[in-house]
Amino acid sequence: MVELKISNLSASVEGKKILKGVDIDVKGGEIHALMGPNGAGKSTLGNVLIGHPNYVIEGGSIILDGKDLTDKTPEERARAGLFLAFQSPISIPGVKISSFLRTAYKQLHPEDKVTVTEFFNRVKEHLKLVGLDESFMSRSVNDGFSGGERKRFEILQMAILKPKIVVLDEIDSGLDVDALRLVAEEIIKYHSKEVGFLIITHYQRILKNIDPDFVHILVDGKVVRNGDKNLALKIEEEGYDWIKE
Ligand SMILES: Nc1ncnc2c1ncn2[C@@H]1O[C@H](COP(=O)(O)OP(=O)(O)O)[C@@H](O)[C@H]1O
Ligand SMILES: [Mg+2]
Repeated sequence: MVELKISNLSASVEGKKILKGVDIDVKGGEIHALMGPNGAGKSTLGNVLIGHPNYVIEGGSIILDGKDLTDKTPEERARAGLFLAFQSPISIPGVKISSFLRTAYKQLHPEDKVTVTEFFNRVKEHLKLVGLDESFMSRSVNDGFSGGERKRFEILQMAILKPKIVVLDEIDSGLDVDALRLVAEEIIKYHSKEVGFLIITHYQRILKNIDPDFVHILVDGKVVRNGDKNLALKIEEEGYDWIKE
């Protein structure tokens, strides 16, 4: 069974303590939304989960399917099934999207003997589904992508690389209504009993297209409320101030 257990996780960046004991448990089949005001530490949690080198874990643990990933490298986390989407600041000029995806897929799923042609057909199919042109395959990874293209590419990576746990940070930012719908459809299609989602979002825009099973509110590095989608609706109406007080 798929289960990501984030326990009492605290972390700092540049010597500043940002996460102060976060507990979130994501099981296969579940969609969790992590919400919170600006600066609460949501993206920090995403970065800590993927093992970004600037973020230092001070305590607690990250365990996926019984495997302790707390001190593991980003590559080991990815191999364990945690989804690492290349985030905005990283571009890899010179590495074509097609070869990046093929290399990453072979590392994650060595048992799949898919041929090159079959694999690229899969990629083409998903490019279409997220609304990207086929010529995208021969571009360099994140090199000169627009905000919207980066988000679509993130979802493409999810659909192709097939992780067990998908962490998406502000996937709805920079997308127009139509692009958001395509992205949400891909997420829903990928959703199964074998996959858990942690969708990080400030606004509840994406949650209009995707129903979360659980909603967590992060304020000042701590989860201060847990609930279901009604909690997200309350945030939409009343903002975050009522929680902070
Ligand atoms: N790389 C970094 N260097 C310095 N401070 C950072 C860095 N990343 C995050 N922070 C700080 O951590 C706090 C939480 O930021 P962040 O996790 O981005 O919040 P959120 O995503 O909830 O808006 C903020 O005070 C931010 O300035
Ligand atoms: Mg953020």
